[in-house]
Amino acid sequence: MKTIEVKTGRSYNIYIEHGIIAEAGKYVREVSKAVRAVIVSDSNVAPIYAGTVEKSLKENGFETSVFIFEAGEERKRLATIEKMYEHFFEHNITRTDIIVALGGGVTGDMAGFAAASYLRGINFVQIPTTLLSQVDSSVGGKTGVDLPTGKNLVGAFWQPSVVLIDPDTLDTLPQKFFNDGLGEVIKYGCIRSSALFSRLENENAADFIDDIIYECVSIKRDVVENDERDTGERAILNFGHTFGHALEKLNHYSVITHGEAVSVGALILTKITEGKGITASGAAGRIKGLLEKYGLPTSTQFSLGEIVSATRGDKKSSGKGINFIFLKDIGECFIHRINNDEINEFFGV
Ligand SMILES: NC(=O)c1ccc[n+]([C@@H]2O[C@H](COP(=O)([O-])OP(=O)(O)OC[C@H]3O[C@@H](n4cnc5c(N)ncnc54)[C@H](O)[C@@H]3O)[C@@H](O)[C@H]2O)c1
Ligand SMILES: [Zn+2]
Repeated sequence: MKTIEVKTGRSYNIYIEHGIIAEAGKYVREVSKAVRAVIVSDSNVAPIYAGTVEKSLKENGFETSVFIFEAGEERKRLATIEKMYEHFFEHNITRTDIIVALGGGVTGDMAGFAAASYLRGINFVQIPTTLLSQVDSSVGGKTGVDLPTGKNLVGAFWQPSVVLIDPDTLDTLPQKFFNDGLGEVIKYGCIRSSALFSRLENENAADFIDDIIYECVSIKRDVVENDERDTGERAILNFGHTFGHALEKLNHYSVITHGEAVSVGALILTKITEGKGITASGAAGRIKGLLEKYGLPTSTQFSLGEIVSATRGDKKSSGKGINFIFLKDIGECFIHRINNDEINEFFGV
């Protein structure tokens, strides 16, 4: 078993171990004296894994219930949170009870937000079951929902009590979502680990997935510990995301997945910075090679002008400019702020 300790406002452990979900109750009991535990899961994940987790919770003395919502980003809404609150109320959930998020990023973000807000805050546990949630969303304490006008606009910082990562759950994850998560994995290689990037080039990701999860979570832990509230260094996790979010918006949040959008966004940006001599030559070619290898897109039908203009209004913009993350080379990045009135000139659009 691999353990990663996260020292944020409230510290917690992340355990990575094959088969750990069958012992989930033991680990939840270590961090909670709760009488009741609510498993929050979606309609794809619950039928496969909720039984195993529930059995283990019961064996460790928890009274359990399961809240299931229909899978998909479209359900990451306040309406689902309200149903969750009703479930908590009907099952007499008190401040000392615990919520168990079992699923991908949609589940974790919503269960975390419900936990952050119900009775002004109760504890929760993350059991991420997609690659994206295992390497990214389950760590760092960002929780929330979408509004009809935009993604993740309502939320809270709320750290979990423990995170249990079972790589075996990826066996049932559709390939499309596995590749989607690899988009974020490639991002971690780009911003902080040339060693990870090289391994992704030389080996097959599925063959060293435990190391991948460990490496990505460690990077995210380091960044989040330095900047829990996302006012500085945490921005580097957004490499590829400014253009990525623009592409998601241009595609009306369908057609292209988040990981795919981030992948193309990272490549387009790095081609430009490489052309300007900001990024070492060859970096964009290596990113393109990895995206092709792992079934991720390398181009878009939208022009650079359309992408740049869609970045306006990005949540990550602040004041009169946008913080872009540029690579010096694979494995090394920095934050570069561009004022709104200089963006078009910078990108030559
Ligand atoms: N909080 C953060 O820091 C953060 C970071 C990145 C992304 N996010 C959020 O995460 C969300 C995306 O997460 P996601 O990609 O995990 O999406 P998701 O939760 O919708 O899961 C993707 C799909 O896979 C299915 N699934 C999940 N695990 C499975 C398994 N083991 N076997 C079979 N099917 C499985 C789900 O039912 C769903 O259909 C977005 O809403 C995004 O905003 C949050
Ligand atoms: Zn992302």
